[in-house]
Amino acid sequence: MNVQYSYLPRQFAEVDQYIEDLRQLVATGEFTLGPFVEKFERKFAAFIGVKHVIGTNTGTDALILALKAVGVRPGDEVITVPNTFIATVGAIVAVGAKPVFVDCDDRDQIDVSQIATAITCRTRAIVPVHWAGCPADIEAVMTIANDHAIPVVEDACPSVGATVNGRSVGTFGKVNAFSMHPLKPLNVWGDGGMVVTDDDEAAEFLRLYHNHGLRHRDHVQIWGVNNRLQPIQAVIATRLLDRINEETEIRIRNARRLDTGLSDLGNVLRVTRRPAGYREVYQLYQCSANRRADLLAFLIARGVEAKVHYPIPIHLQAAAKELGYKRGSFPVCERQADAILTLPAHQFVTIDQIDYMSEVIHEFYAKPVVSVRKVC
Ligand SMILES: Cc1ncc(COP(=O)(O)O)c(C=O)c1O
Repeated sequence: MNVQYSYLPRQFAEVDQYIEDLRQLVATGEFTLGPFVEKFERKFAAFIGVKHVIGTNTGTDALILALKAVGVRPGDEVITVPNTFIATVGAIVAVGAKPVFVDCDDRDQIDVSQIATAITCRTRAIVPVHWAGCPADIEAVMTIANDHAIPVVEDACPSVGATVNGRSVGTFGKVNAFSMHPLKPLNVWGDGGMVVTDDDEAAEFLRLYHNHGLRHRDHVQIWGVNNRLQPIQAVIATRLLDRINEETEIRIRNARRLDTGLSDLGNVLRVTRRPAGYREVYQLYQCSANRRADLLAFLIARGVEAKVHYPIPIHLQAAAKELGYKRGSFPVCERQADAILTLPAHQFVTIDQIDYMSEVIHEFYAKPVVSVRKVC
């Protein structure tokens, strides 16, 4: 049996409906901002329950804009995690700030207990990442941030649809970022993102800044850039938003079945802890595996396209050398990087395929091994 990681050709197999939507766009010639982008922004605002949504080119742009909007300037420090996609940290560096890492916890989310000690007089923002479609402990992050009067920018890039006690991620921090990259829960035909906020002043800045600082065609209010969402992507995203809950529920069903199927493996394969009240949307289904490299090879040989996100934490990347961290700086994150494994559990994976993956993994661990190292 094959279990594929990529689902995009299947997701867009019924292409005619999208083409029909695009015909309407083409007929108007509204190829820069305009009604199609505005319609999507309104729809997404209603979907997550936020006042302002500004479409952007990418999730990375959304993060850069969000950091600027909360006042991060060159020389400031921004607290985040080293176990994320590079864009979280790249965005901090792009605005001239210094990333300051804290370790992750056993759920691969920011370890909230470490934030307070990382705060200095130069800390200008905290960027918790809702990693892999699972919410960080954002309520606890907000408590610490509010105590220190430091703005929070949620990196909710992988996590459209995730909630904490019924409230959408990306609505807790002051200005927050989402991605619509093709492998995200709400995905478009290329790149796309959104920066979202309830703050009118921040929204005013973001609308100007992401469109050259233009108040009107002939009036430049502030220096800006072009980070606009393309109307083509807005059209695709508008239609997809109608289905996102249905698709997410299938991913949740798949993840729960995998959790159950793998739960007896205990000390050799650890299923992530799932707190009550958190809706996890499983942009990636991740677990921690002993002998990860061997298991990965075994799964691939059995037709399961498993992956690793990511084998090298950011503080150990060449680009991060100047930050002065070393191996041992973030032990939980480093152990996780050695053990973490992504299994395909997306909306096109069937129950049979889920059960097949559980069987293959059980088969792998039933085999005699030379040495067994315990997962952290
Ligand atoms: C945690 C995280 N932050 C930021 C990004 C950047 O989003 P984009 O690829 O849309 O720039 C991604 C997506 O790849 C991500 O997973």
